Formats: sequence, structure tokens, C-alpha cells
Amino acid sequence: MFDLVVRGGTVATEAGTECADVGISGGVITACGRRLGPGTREIDATGRLVLPGGVDAHCHVDQKSSSGLMTADDFFTAGVSAACGGTTTIIPFAAQHRGQSLRAVVEAYHERARSRAFVDYGFHLIVSDPTPAVLEEELPGLVADGCPSLKVYMTYDALKVTDRQMLAIFDAARRAGAIVLVHAENSDAVAWATGRLLAQGLTEPRCHPASRPAAAEGEATNRAIALAELAGADVFIVHVSCREALAPIAAARARGARVWAETCPQYLVLTAADMDLPGFDMARFICSPPLRNRDDQDALWGALADGQLDLVASDHAPYRLRDPLGKMVHGEDAPFTKIPNGISGLELRMPLVYSAGVRTGRIALAQFVALTATNPARIHGLYPRKGTIAPGSDADLAIWDTGLERVVAQADLHDAMDDSPFEGRVVTGWPVTTIARGEIVWHAGKVAGEPGRGRFVARTSRLA
Ligand code: URP
Ligand code: ZN
Ligand code: ZN
Repeated sequence: MFDLVVRGGTVATEAGTECADVGISGGVITACGRRLGPGTREIDATGRLVLPGGVDAHCHVDQKSSSGLMTADDFFTAGVSAACGGTTTIIPFAAQHRGQSLRAVVEAYHERARSRAFVDYGFHLIVSDPTPAVLEEELPGLVADGCPSLKVYMTYDALKVTDRQMLAIFDAARRAGAIVLVHAENSDAVAWATGRLLAQGLTEPRCHPASRPAAAEGEATNRAIALAELAGADVFIVHVSCREALAPIAAARARGARVWAETCPQYLVLTAADMDLPGFDMARFICSPPLRNRDDQDALWGALADGQLDLVASDHAPYRLRDPLGKMVHGEDAPFTKIPNGISGLELRMPLVYSAGVRTGRIALAQFVALTATNPARIHGLYPRKGTIAPGSDADLAIWDTGLERVVAQADLHDAMDDSPFEGRVVTGWPVTTIARGEIVWHAGKVAGEPGRGRFVARTSRLA
């Protein structure tokens, strides 16, 4: 007798699909096959797809940003939103600001997450102050405690590190068994392009993409990879948005460099042309790197299809649009330089990529599973506990109605935002039931579960 059986669905993994039942006991998948015995509870998944719960490897939750603002979502609202979109594990950031102890920062994030988390979570570290104490004493301990990844910024004055600091971080990360995530944009090139726009009086939010040119992302991506190779570190390029960044990644991988990379739904389905809106509404699309053009979109889809990009993460960075604690912190007429960067997407990540990718034939279903669940779990030390459907794995599943068509409306989403950059978009294919560690947390339009049900998941170091 199982606790729960998901019966008769089409189970999809990165290896393919099969018609199978999934048997769950004690929060773990204990069997997967035809005609399994009964469960205390059963869900009929006939005619539905049964996918591994998604792993969103890049999101900002209850985090103080480079601009000093807190994100709108805490671990509860973010987790509910993730679960309703088929994602059952998130890896947000524990962000060190200059002068802080990295260990103390991580403990504060643990404290906030423990009582509020709705889905399972890990932490990437953000290192902005790589002192010898941080790199030699704190980092190895934090990696051993289950945080084997850290992010560095090549832009944003409050967070950015120099090339020399980046080399020291790469070196320490290699020794500690961590992968280094890099936000790759050339800070000086961005400052120069920004100054040129401001000098011409071009301050509207729609000017933001021109202030962060694709060349600045391409150059920084190339430099980050070169420095990582010099130090012998594993490097992961986050939120790749353009051809100029894809090229050095592909070249590095072709020569065998240890480079991984992601993109995000916003770069796959939106372009800078979407910012052609009146007034402050265009600020909803401000994120960095910025939205690009159709040619970049095509290149990103191609890179997902041919394996040059490893995963799709949301980069959920929620700042409410019409809120003095959000994008309007400096008022409605603020220049683009003063508007917080970031857009929401935890809940829509998987439906957007399924709808725009699998249904259009740009990527296969098995690739979708790999890009949204299995690869993030594998790269970030969660596999096979997370990211697949197999005996022994956590019972994290989403049951999808692939024909369900919905028009995206912020009112239907579960995050703490007042606005979605994807509002009005027609999306076909949605999770109708989500199971997290064996518990049904989203079913028939209802959320079930308490704040604090989500658990910290210690991830495996790259030395293990
Ligand atoms: O605009 C973005 N992506 N904001 C989030 C912070 C970051 O750089 O990831
Ligand atoms: Zn970033
Ligand atoms: Zn981010």
C-alpha cells in the first residue's frame, strides 16, 4: 500500500516518456511502473503529463538588492508561486553586502526561510567582499554545509568585483568545491553607454536596453570564462540574453572548458520592443541584462535545442511596479538609472517555456524536462534527489494539462507582485496538480500547505 499513487499518466523524464503509475511513500518515490498496487490516496492522471517538479536555479527571494530594496516575495509567497507553476525546488541567493560576514548572512537567510518556506530550497552565496577571511575561512565551511555555489557581479557598483578579486574567488571556489555563477556585463561599458544617453536627455525607461549593450555582455562573458580557465574553476554564466554572449560560451565548451550557462523566459519570449508602452508601464520590463531582439531570441532557442545552454531559470527578482518600495522608489519620472532592475517569473517559467518551446517544436519534451528540472538539479548538486522521477528520488511531481490555454493575468498568480511583464500572453500547457515531497500542494486551483513546510536541501560539493 502506497501513501499516494499517481495513476495512468504519461511520465516524462530527460530519457523519454512512458505510460506509468508513480507510487509514493514517506515523501519519496518508491515505485514507477504499470499497474502498481493501491494507495491510501490516488490521483487519476489519465491523459495528463507527469513531469518532475521543476528546479528553479536562479531566483531572488527575501533579498536586499544592489539598490538596497527588498524583493517583494518572501519564502512563502515565492514558494507558493513556484509550486503553482510546477516548480518544487528553488535556489535563491544569500547576498553578502560589503563589510558583512558571509557566514552571518547565510545564517540570517536560514532564519527567514525556516519558518516561511513553502517549497524545498538551497542557497547560492553572493560574494561582494572577498576578504581573505571570507574566501579562506567562511567559504569552505559554507560549501561543506550544502551551499556549493556562489555568484559574483561584474556590474552594479554596490556588488561588483574587480578582475583580480574574481581570480581570487575562482581560485578559492575551485579549492572549496564550488561553482562560480557570473553576472557578466562590462561595468565600464555600461557606464559609458549610460552617460551617452543621459547627455542626450534620453532618460525614459525604454532607454534602459541601449544603456547595457549586447557587446558589454559578450565581452564580460568572454573575460569571465578566460579568468575561470586561468584559475581552473568551474564557471556558470547566468541569464544569457544575446548572441554576443553565446559565442564565447560555445567556443569555450568546444575547447573543453568547464563552462555552463542558463537563459531565462524573459529573453525567450519578450523583446525590447515590448517596452513600447506609455508612461511608467515600460518600467515593468527593466531587468539586467536587458531585453534584446528577435535575432537574439532565435539564437537562444537554438542554443537550448543544441545543448549550448544547460537550463532555463526565472531570475525572479520581484519589485512591484506601482509601489514606493518597488520600481517607483524614486517616483514616476525617475530616469532609468534609478529604477530597480528585475522582473518576476517563478510561476510562469515552466508554462512559458513549455508553451513557446515544446508546443512550437523548438525543443523536445525530454529537453524541456532536462532544461527546467534535471540539468539544474545535476549542475547544482541536487540530483538524483531532485529533478527526476525515479525510485529513491523525492516525490516532487507536477501533473500537466498540456491543452489548457490561459491568458496570463497577474490576478491569477500567487506571488506578491502587482504586475507581470507577461500579462495578456496566451500560454498553453499548465500544471494542474503539484506534489512536493509527497504532499499535494496545488490541486484544482487550490493551494494546500503551511509556511515552513519547505526544507533546506544541502547540495553536494563538486569535490564529493
Ligand atoms: O535585473 C535583474 N536580473 N535583477 C536581478 C539581479 C541579478 O542581477 O540577477
Ligand atoms: Zn544577475
Ligand atoms: Zn538574478
